[in-house]
Amino acid sequence: MSATINQDSVYQVDSLIAEDIDAYLDRHQHKSLLRFITCGSVDDGKSTLIGRLLYDSKMIFEDQLAALEADSKKVGTQGQEIDFALLVDGLAAEREQGITIDVAYRFFATDKRKFIVADTPGHEQYTRNMVTGASTADLAVILIDARKGVLVQTRRHSYLAHLIGIKNIVLAVNKMDLVGYDQKVFDAIVADYTEFANSIGIKSFVPMPISGFKGDNITGPSENTPWYTGPALMEHLETVPLDVSTDQEKPFRLPVQWVNRPNLDFRGFAGLISAGTVKPGQAVRVLPSGKTSSVTRIVTLDGDLEEAVAGQSVTLTFADEIDCSRGDVISVSDNPPEVSDQFEATIVWMDEAEMLPGRPYWLKLATQTVTATIQAPKYQVNVNTMEHLAAKTLDLNAIGVANFATDKPIVFEPYEANRQLGGFILIDKITNATVGAGMIHFSLRRAQNVHWQATDISREKHASLKNQKPAVLWFTGLSGAGKSTIANLVEKKLVRMNRHTFLLDGDNVRHGLNKDLGFTDADRIENIRRVGEVAKLMTDAGLIVLTAFISPFRQERQLVRDMMAPGEFIEVHIDTSLDEAEKRDVKGLYKKARAGELKNFTGIDSPYEAPEAPEIRIDTSKMSADEAAQHIVDILIGEG
Ligand code: ADX
Repeated sequence: MSATINQDSVYQVDSLIAEDIDAYLDRHQHKSLLRFITCGSVDDGKSTLIGRLLYDSKMIFEDQLAALEADSKKVGTQGQEIDFALLVDGLAAEREQGITIDVAYRFFATDKRKFIVADTPGHEQYTRNMVTGASTADLAVILIDARKGVLVQTRRHSYLAHLIGIKNIVLAVNKMDLVGYDQKVFDAIVADYTEFANSIGIKSFVPMPISGFKGDNITGPSENTPWYTGPALMEHLETVPLDVSTDQEKPFRLPVQWVNRPNLDFRGFAGLISAGTVKPGQAVRVLPSGKTSSVTRIVTLDGDLEEAVAGQSVTLTFADEIDCSRGDVISVSDNPPEVSDQFEATIVWMDEAEMLPGRPYWLKLATQTVTATIQAPKYQVNVNTMEHLAAKTLDLNAIGVANFATDKPIVFEPYEANRQLGGFILIDKITNATVGAGMIHFSLRRAQNVHWQATDISREKHASLKNQKPAVLWFTGLSGAGKSTIANLVEKKLVRMNRHTFLLDGDNVRHGLNKDLGFTDADRIENIRRVGEVAKLMTDAGLIVLTAFISPFRQERQLVRDMMAPGEFIEVHIDTSLDEAEKRDVKGLYKKARAGELKNFTGIDSPYEAPEAPEIRIDTSKMSADEAAQHIVDILIGEG
């Protein structure tokens, strides 16, 4: 088994690029593409293996291989990037989803196939990188160090690969040279892994004894393992059947990326076909609206097509002028995907900051972007034992199952049926970081069976009876800032003007409706969500609602603002410095907090995020409570 480089073929490839780039690209274009990931723990020789594959396929030279090997010895480095413009197609989708994660993609090709390999770092905290790399992969190479056997990392990554729906798993037992190519060691590891694989539902995998360093069983059979009769790694990668054909047999789906309207005579809907095939004349349905039409043309840059299949980017035109825009999904008309605003999903949490049930996150699924909130997890999965553990939240790398609610219905399919329409990512609205990845199981029945009941007495009727414009005056500020005092004075003034009002005060609501909630971030979020919903009902009843809650987080104040009718949410920041509030310390709570007797106290060991652009800001160092109340009432009168 030798890995000497064939200089001739290197020059051949090179000279073809130089002499006839079209012929070179054409040759590549007609090969199938296998995307795969390598995963394992830090020291199991991933970079060396990848270097070996690149080297043996003549994509790099000896000195680069040496550099890769040197790099792989330093923990956390990625090795050298082989930068090929050719690989961008697969990455565009991830870029569009705003994922910028530390995954090195490398491209290489042999006579039989093209490959994109995502090299994901092996540290425990890098699970998210693996999820990113795996989301489009056809195959996973799970690397095991023959000296160490099956590790926590092996289990975690196998479980993730399986969750993500990768059907082809290679168990590469690496560093066989360091265990004397002993068949017993290999067999024991395979037996161990088989037991684990069965327990999580992996139906089959291909085990192979290799040495990335020495080149055993990489491109051909190794003399050192005469007892092994299976394929070499490269052979397997070159010949393993791809899923493409099964994607084409599924019902047609095209998530619309953009509407192509160069002039008034042409209106086309562009996107990447995620499943199925389409021909002119095909009856289609646009989701979520449900409107139907039929396809007239399949337009591409190279002219119209008679048929297009999963994996192709096309523009469709319709026979009828029906509404269709970015985020909609075009489907065969008689077998459409689901539409729902509540569903259950498996979620992999990827952020340092824990998941916050109730917090609004951006959810991106195919070309759709909506606001989603997650409920407390039903359970978390222990990836070692597959046990279901009770959990209130999910920390970095945790995997759990939870229900989701979105602000608008989304078009989706169970992840098992369609990875693109069933997989989503979650993005923090403020930091823009990708914080989680999810896989949808099913929509919740209650989303389908609970409908909005129209009532005859409308919110307008309620408001006009009271002869007023409903609104929410949302007071926010530190404990002791003066929210309740000023809100109380405002309410008195409004009542004197014959206004119908109601004051919801933090301390009071926490005696009843919210007595089950404490002061953790998650509980405060739920506190504000509930108060928001109650305030909204009260505006429907025509009332002017005043709320006095610390409401420390911008995102939940925004959530409540988004719930209200436009113009009905008036944020009032009672701006008192921490020093001043602490000096007053009406309830003696700051003293307790400083003494460590009260945990999670706002301003001390729990954050307060001041509003950036409140409708009204009251600086209590410049105004008395009464002046502040009058000022607020004057503004309300001014606004009608
Ligand atoms: S919020 O953060 O969830 O909006 P809320 O306004 O309902 O808080 O309740 C705040 C009131 O609870 C404070 O005025 C104070 O009297 C009391 N309180 C008790 N513990 C805390 C705490 N850890 N942090 C802030 N306020 C607390």
